[in-house]
Amino acid sequence: MAQSMLIYPLFISDIEDDETLIPSLPGQCRRGINKLVPFLEPLVRKGLKSVMLFGVPLQPGTKDALGTSADDPKGPVMQSIRLLRQRFPQLFISVDVCLCEYTSHGHCGILRDDGSLNNQLSVDRISDVAVAYAQAGAHCVAPSDMNDGRIRAIKLKLIEEGIAHKTLLMSYAAKFSGCLYGPFRDAAMSSPSFGDRKCYQLPPGGRGLARRAIVRDIGEGADIIMVKPASQYLDIISDAKELGRDLPVAAYHVSGEYAMVHAAAKAGVFDLKTMAFEVTEGILRAGANIVVSYFTPEFLDWLEN
Ligand code: PBG
Ligand code: ZN
Repeated sequence: MAQSMLIYPLFISDIEDDETLIPSLPGQCRRGINKLVPFLEPLVRKGLKSVMLFGVPLQPGTKDALGTSADDPKGPVMQSIRLLRQRFPQLFISVDVCLCEYTSHGHCGILRDDGSLNNQLSVDRISDVAVAYAQAGAHCVAPSDMNDGRIRAIKLKLIEEGIAHKTLLMSYAAKFSGCLYGPFRDAAMSSPSFGDRKCYQLPPGGRGLARRAIVRDIGEGADIIMVKPASQYLDIISDAKELGRDLPVAAYHVSGEYAMVHAAAKAGVFDLKTMAFEVTEGILRAGANIVVSYFTPEFLDWLEN
Protein backbone atom coordinates (compact mmCIF):
# COMPACT_ATOMS: atom_id res chain seq x y z
CA MET A 1 0.00 0.00 0.00
CA ALA A 2 1.14 3.55 -0.73
CA GLN A 3 0.35 7.06 0.48
CA SER A 4 -1.03 7.92 -2.97
CA MET A 5 -3.91 5.42 -2.59
CA LEU A 6 -5.45 7.35 0.29
CA ILE A 7 -8.11 10.05 0.38
CA TYR A 8 -8.59 11.94 3.63
CA PRO A 9 -12.15 13.13 4.51
CA LEU A 10 -12.39 16.67 5.90
CA PHE A 11 -15.40 18.25 7.65
CA ILE A 12 -15.56 21.98 6.99
CA SER A 13 -17.96 24.10 8.98
CA ASP A 14 -19.19 27.62 8.28
CA ILE A 15 -17.66 28.97 11.49
CA GLU A 16 -14.34 30.37 10.31
CA ASP A 17 -12.25 29.66 13.40
CA ASP A 18 -13.98 26.44 14.38
CA GLU A 19 -11.83 23.49 15.42
CA THR A 20 -14.00 21.03 17.32
CA LEU A 21 -13.15 17.42 18.10
CA ILE A 22 -15.91 14.98 17.18
CA PRO A 23 -16.32 12.72 20.21
CA SER A 24 -17.56 9.67 18.30
CA LEU A 25 -14.81 9.98 15.66
CA PRO A 26 -11.56 9.79 17.65
CA GLY A 27 -8.96 12.37 16.71
CA GLN A 28 -11.07 13.94 13.93
CA CYS A 29 -12.26 17.56 13.95
CA ARG A 30 -14.73 19.81 12.27
CA ARG A 31 -12.80 22.85 11.05
CA GLY A 32 -13.58 26.30 9.79
CA ILE A 33 -11.87 27.70 6.72
CA ASN A 34 -9.26 29.58 8.74
CA LYS A 35 -7.99 26.34 10.29
CA LEU A 36 -7.75 24.40 7.07
CA VAL A 37 -4.42 25.50 5.61
CA PRO A 38 -2.46 25.33 8.91
CA PHE A 39 -3.88 21.86 9.53
CA LEU A 40 -3.10 20.56 6.04
CA GLU A 41 0.36 22.08 5.58
CA PRO A 42 2.26 19.44 7.57
CA LEU A 43 0.17 16.64 6.09
CA VAL A 44 0.87 17.77 2.52
CA ARG A 45 4.55 17.97 3.41
CA LYS A 46 4.38 14.35 4.61
CA GLY A 47 2.86 13.21 1.34
CA LEU A 48 -0.92 13.77 1.53
CA LYS A 49 -2.17 13.56 -2.06
CA SER A 50 -5.92 13.82 -1.84
CA VAL A 51 -8.80 15.02 0.33
CA MET A 52 -12.57 14.68 0.24
CA LEU A 53 -14.54 17.71 1.42
CA PHE A 54 -17.79 17.63 3.40
CA GLY A 55 -19.59 20.86 4.28
CA VAL A 56 -21.15 21.29 7.69
CA PRO A 57 -23.45 24.31 7.95
CA LEU A 58 -23.79 25.25 11.62
CA GLN A 59 -24.98 28.85 11.37
CA PRO A 60 -28.65 29.23 12.22
CA GLY A 61 -30.96 29.49 9.21
CA THR A 62 -28.62 27.81 6.71
CA LYS A 63 -30.72 24.67 6.21
CA ASP A 64 -33.92 24.50 4.18
CA ALA A 65 -36.07 21.98 2.32
CA LEU A 66 -34.06 22.40 -0.91
CA GLY A 67 -30.53 22.33 0.49
CA THR A 68 -29.97 25.81 -0.91
CA SER A 69 -26.69 26.41 0.93
CA ALA A 70 -24.93 23.38 -0.62
CA ASP A 71 -23.50 25.48 -3.44
CA ASP A 72 -23.56 28.90 -1.81
CA PRO A 73 -20.48 30.65 -3.26
CA LYS A 74 -19.74 31.96 0.22
CA GLY A 75 -20.37 28.56 1.84
CA PRO A 76 -17.58 26.49 3.40
CA VAL A 77 -17.19 23.96 0.59
CA MET A 78 -17.10 26.40 -2.33
CA GLN A 79 -14.63 28.61 -0.45
CA SER A 80 -12.44 25.67 0.56
CA ILE A 81 -12.21 24.35 -2.99
CA ARG A 82 -10.84 27.70 -4.19
CA LEU A 83 -8.53 28.11 -1.19
CA LEU A 84 -7.07 24.61 -1.41
CA ARG A 85 -6.56 24.81 -5.18
CA GLN A 86 -4.64 28.02 -4.66
CA ARG A 87 -2.60 27.02 -1.61
CA PHE A 88 -1.90 23.37 -2.47
CA PRO A 89 -1.68 23.15 -6.27
CA GLN A 90 -0.60 19.49 -6.13
CA LEU A 91 -3.42 18.36 -3.86
CA PHE A 92 -6.22 16.38 -5.52
CA ILE A 93 -9.57 17.74 -4.37
CA SER A 94 -12.64 15.52 -4.28
CA VAL A 95 -15.91 16.85 -2.98
CA ASP A 96 -18.79 14.81 -1.61
CA VAL A 97 -22.04 15.85 -3.28
CA CYS A 98 -25.19 15.37 -1.27
CA LEU A 99 -28.00 17.42 0.20
CA CYS A 100 -28.37 15.76 3.63
CA GLU A 101 -25.95 18.17 5.31
CA TYR A 102 -27.94 21.12 3.94
CA THR A 103 -31.59 20.05 4.13
CA SER A 104 -33.72 20.88 7.16
CA HIS A 105 -35.07 17.30 7.16
CA GLY A 106 -31.61 15.72 6.74
CA HIS A 107 -32.52 13.48 3.79
CA CYS A 108 -30.29 13.12 0.73
CA GLY A 109 -32.61 14.92 -1.69
CA ILE A 110 -35.77 16.97 -2.08
CA LEU A 111 -38.92 15.46 -0.62
CA ARG A 112 -42.50 15.12 -1.79
CA ASP A 113 -45.31 16.05 0.58
CA ASP A 114 -45.53 12.44 1.75
CA GLY A 115 -41.87 12.49 2.86
CA SER A 116 -40.51 10.30 0.04
CA LEU A 117 -37.79 11.54 -2.31
CA ASN A 118 -38.85 13.45 -5.41
CA ASN A 119 -36.45 11.96 -7.94
CA GLN A 120 -36.65 14.63 -10.64
CA LEU A 121 -36.20 17.60 -8.30
CA SER A 122 -33.44 15.82 -6.34
CA VAL A 123 -31.46 14.87 -9.43
CA ASP A 124 -31.79 18.37 -10.93
CA ARG A 125 -30.56 19.97 -7.73
CA ILE A 126 -27.74 17.50 -7.03
CA SER A 127 -26.39 17.82 -10.57
CA ASP A 128 -26.42 21.62 -10.25
CA VAL A 129 -24.46 21.36 -7.00
CA ALA A 130 -21.93 18.96 -8.56
CA VAL A 131 -21.37 21.34 -11.49
CA ALA A 132 -20.92 24.29 -9.12
CA TYR A 133 -18.20 22.40 -7.21
CA ALA A 134 -16.49 21.43 -10.46
CA GLN A 135 -16.62 25.03 -11.71
CA ALA A 136 -15.09 26.18 -8.44
CA GLY A 137 -12.16 23.86 -9.16
CA ALA A 138 -12.91 20.44 -7.67
CA HIS A 139 -10.95 17.74 -9.50
CA CYS A 140 -13.51 15.13 -8.59
CA VAL A 141 -17.18 15.25 -7.64
CA ALA A 142 -18.55 12.32 -5.66
CA PRO A 143 -22.35 12.08 -5.37
CA SER A 144 -23.17 10.10 -2.21
CA ASP A 145 -26.93 10.39 -2.45
CA MET A 146 -28.58 7.39 -4.04
CA ASN A 147 -31.11 9.13 -6.30
CA ASP A 148 -31.64 7.11 -9.48
CA GLY A 149 -30.20 8.75 -12.58
CA ARG A 150 -27.94 11.28 -10.90
CA ILE A 151 -24.73 10.01 -12.50
CA ARG A 152 -26.12 10.53 -16.00
CA ALA A 153 -27.53 13.94 -15.06
CA ILE A 154 -24.20 15.12 -13.60
CA LYS A 155 -22.19 13.78 -16.54
CA LEU A 156 -24.47 15.51 -19.07
CA LYS A 157 -24.28 18.85 -17.24
CA LEU A 158 -20.49 18.59 -16.98
CA ILE A 159 -20.34 17.98 -20.75
CA GLU A 160 -22.76 20.85 -21.39
CA GLU A 161 -20.60 23.20 -19.29
CA GLY A 162 -17.44 22.06 -21.09
CA ILE A 163 -15.73 20.72 -17.95
CA ALA A 164 -16.34 16.97 -18.23
CA HIS A 165 -12.79 16.42 -19.51
CA LYS A 166 -11.28 17.84 -16.31
CA THR A 167 -13.72 16.59 -13.72
CA LEU A 168 -13.73 13.02 -12.47
CA LEU A 169 -17.11 11.63 -11.52
CA MET A 170 -16.84 9.21 -8.62
CA SER A 171 -20.08 7.42 -7.88
CA TYR A 172 -20.91 6.06 -4.46
CA ALA A 173 -22.51 3.27 -6.50
CA ALA A 174 -22.77 0.53 -3.90
CA LYS A 175 -23.72 2.31 -0.72
CA PHE A 176 -25.27 0.13 1.95
CA SER A 177 -27.56 1.23 4.74
CA GLY A 178 -26.70 0.14 8.25
CA CYS A 179 -25.27 1.31 11.54
CA LEU A 180 -21.78 2.32 10.45
CA TYR A 181 -22.44 5.97 9.52
CA GLY A 182 -23.34 7.17 13.03
CA PRO A 183 -20.12 9.06 13.87
CA PHE A 184 -20.17 10.72 10.44
CA ARG A 185 -23.69 11.99 11.06
CA ASP A 186 -22.47 13.43 14.39
CA ALA A 187 -19.62 15.11 12.54
CA ALA A 188 -21.72 16.42 9.65
CA MET A 189 -24.90 16.97 11.69
CA SER A 190 -26.76 15.13 8.95
CA SER A 191 -29.02 12.65 10.73
CA PRO A 192 -32.49 12.51 9.16
CA SER A 193 -35.06 14.27 11.35
CA PHE A 194 -37.57 11.49 10.64
CA GLY A 195 -37.40 8.04 9.06
CA ASP A 196 -34.14 6.55 7.82
CA ARG A 197 -32.19 6.04 4.57
CA LYS A 198 -33.25 2.45 3.95
CA CYS A 199 -35.49 3.46 1.04
CA TYR A 200 -32.53 4.71 -0.95
CA GLN A 201 -29.45 2.97 0.44
CA LEU A 202 -28.92 -0.75 -0.25
CA PRO A 203 -29.91 -3.47 2.23
CA PRO A 204 -26.84 -5.25 3.69
CA GLY A 205 -27.76 -8.56 2.04
CA GLY A 206 -28.25 -7.02 -1.39
CA ARG A 207 -25.29 -8.27 -3.39
CA GLY A 208 -27.28 -8.49 -6.61
CA LEU A 209 -28.70 -5.00 -6.10
CA ALA A 210 -25.16 -3.68 -5.56
CA ARG A 211 -23.93 -5.37 -8.75
CA ARG A 212 -26.82 -3.83 -10.68
CA ALA A 213 -26.14 -0.38 -9.23
CA ILE A 214 -22.47 -0.67 -10.20
CA VAL A 215 -23.30 -1.68 -13.77
CA ARG A 216 -25.90 1.07 -14.01
CA ASP A 217 -23.54 3.80 -12.79
CA ILE A 218 -20.77 2.68 -15.15
CA GLY A 219 -23.31 2.89 -17.97
CA GLU A 220 -24.33 6.37 -16.90
CA GLY A 221 -20.76 7.65 -17.08
CA ALA A 222 -19.09 7.13 -13.70
CA ASP A 223 -15.28 7.35 -13.86
CA ILE A 224 -14.67 5.75 -10.45
CA ILE A 225 -16.89 3.29 -8.58
CA MET A 226 -17.07 3.52 -4.82
CA VAL A 227 -18.14 0.82 -2.39
CA LYS A 228 -19.16 1.83 1.11
CA PRO A 229 -18.76 0.67 3.87
CA ALA A 230 -15.59 -1.26 3.06
CA SER A 231 -14.57 -4.04 5.46
CA GLN A 232 -18.06 -5.58 5.74
CA TYR A 233 -18.42 -5.51 1.95
CA LEU A 234 -15.19 -6.98 0.58
CA ASP A 235 -17.14 -9.21 -1.81
CA ILE A 236 -18.77 -6.11 -3.30
CA ILE A 237 -15.37 -4.43 -3.75
CA SER A 238 -14.23 -7.51 -5.61
CA ASP A 239 -17.46 -7.48 -7.67
CA ALA A 240 -16.84 -3.82 -8.54
CA LYS A 241 -13.33 -4.71 -9.72
CA GLU A 242 -14.76 -7.45 -11.92
CA LEU A 243 -17.69 -5.43 -13.31
CA GLY A 244 -15.67 -2.26 -13.81
CA ARG A 245 -12.51 -3.87 -15.10
CA ASP A 246 -11.25 -0.64 -16.64
CA LEU A 247 -12.26 1.70 -13.82
CA PRO A 248 -10.56 2.47 -10.54
CA VAL A 249 -12.48 1.15 -7.54
CA ALA A 250 -12.63 3.22 -4.38
CA ALA A 251 -13.68 1.92 -0.98
CA TYR A 252 -14.78 4.12 1.91
CA HIS A 253 -13.58 2.85 5.29
CA VAL A 254 -16.41 4.70 6.99
CA SER A 255 -16.72 6.46 10.31
CA GLY A 256 -18.20 3.48 12.20
CA GLU A 257 -15.48 1.14 10.96
CA TYR A 258 -12.83 3.63 12.03
CA ALA A 259 -14.46 4.16 15.44
CA MET A 260 -14.67 0.40 15.97
CA VAL A 261 -10.96 -0.06 15.38
CA HIS A 262 -10.25 2.72 17.87
CA ALA A 263 -12.65 1.31 20.47
CA ALA A 264 -11.25 -2.20 20.22
CA ALA A 265 -7.67 -0.97 20.41
CA LYS A 266 -8.56 1.08 23.47
CA ALA A 267 -10.13 -1.99 25.06
CA GLY A 268 -6.88 -3.87 24.54
CA VAL A 269 -8.21 -6.22 21.86
CA PHE A 270 -5.38 -5.40 19.44
CA ASP A 271 -2.76 -2.85 18.54
CA LEU A 272 -4.25 0.11 16.62
CA LYS A 273 -1.56 0.39 13.96
CA THR A 274 -1.47 -3.35 13.27
CA MET A 275 -5.24 -3.44 12.79
CA ALA A 276 -5.29 -0.25 10.69
CA PHE A 277 -2.86 -1.96 8.30
CA GLU A 278 -4.64 -5.31 8.39
CA VAL A 279 -8.05 -3.86 7.55
CA THR A 280 -6.76 -1.48 4.88
CA GLU A 281 -4.68 -4.20 3.23
CA GLY A 282 -7.77 -6.41 3.24
CA ILE A 283 -9.71 -3.68 1.41
CA LEU A 284 -6.92 -3.31 -1.14
CA ARG A 285 -6.62 -7.08 -1.55
CA ALA A 286 -10.34 -7.27 -2.34
CA GLY A 287 -9.70 -5.00 -5.33
CA ALA A 288 -9.82 -1.36 -4.23
CA ASN A 289 -7.30 1.02 -5.81
CA ILE A 290 -8.33 3.93 -3.63
CA VAL A 291 -9.27 3.97 0.06
CA VAL A 292 -11.06 6.86 1.72
CA SER A 293 -9.77 6.66 5.27
CA TYR A 294 -9.79 8.63 8.51
CA PHE A 295 -6.47 6.88 9.25
CA THR A 296 -4.79 8.80 6.40
CA PRO A 297 -2.75 11.17 8.63
CA GLU A 298 -1.39 8.20 10.60
CA PHE A 299 -0.65 6.25 7.43
CA LEU A 300 1.38 9.19 6.11
CA ASP A 301 3.71 8.64 9.08
CA TRP A 302 3.54 4.86 9.08
CA LEU A 303 4.25 4.58 5.35
CA GLU A 304 7.11 7.04 5.44
CA ASN A 305 10.47 5.52 4.73
C1 PBG B 1 -23.74 11.70 2.89
C2 PBG B 1 -22.64 10.79 3.29
C3 PBG B 1 -22.59 9.89 4.37
C4 PBG B 1 -21.31 9.35 4.37
C5 PBG B 1 -20.62 9.87 3.28
N1 PBG B 1 -21.46 10.76 2.63
C6 PBG B 1 -23.61 9.61 5.41
C7 PBG B 1 -24.83 8.90 5.05
O1 PBG B 1 -25.06 8.51 3.92
O2 PBG B 1 -25.65 8.75 5.94
C8 PBG B 1 -20.79 8.39 5.39
C9 PBG B 1 -19.32 8.41 5.63
C10 PBG B 1 -18.87 7.86 6.94
O3 PBG B 1 -19.65 7.28 7.71
O4 PBG B 1 -17.68 8.02 7.24
N2 PBG B 1 -24.71 11.11 2.09
ZN1 ZN C 1 -26.68 12.32 1.99
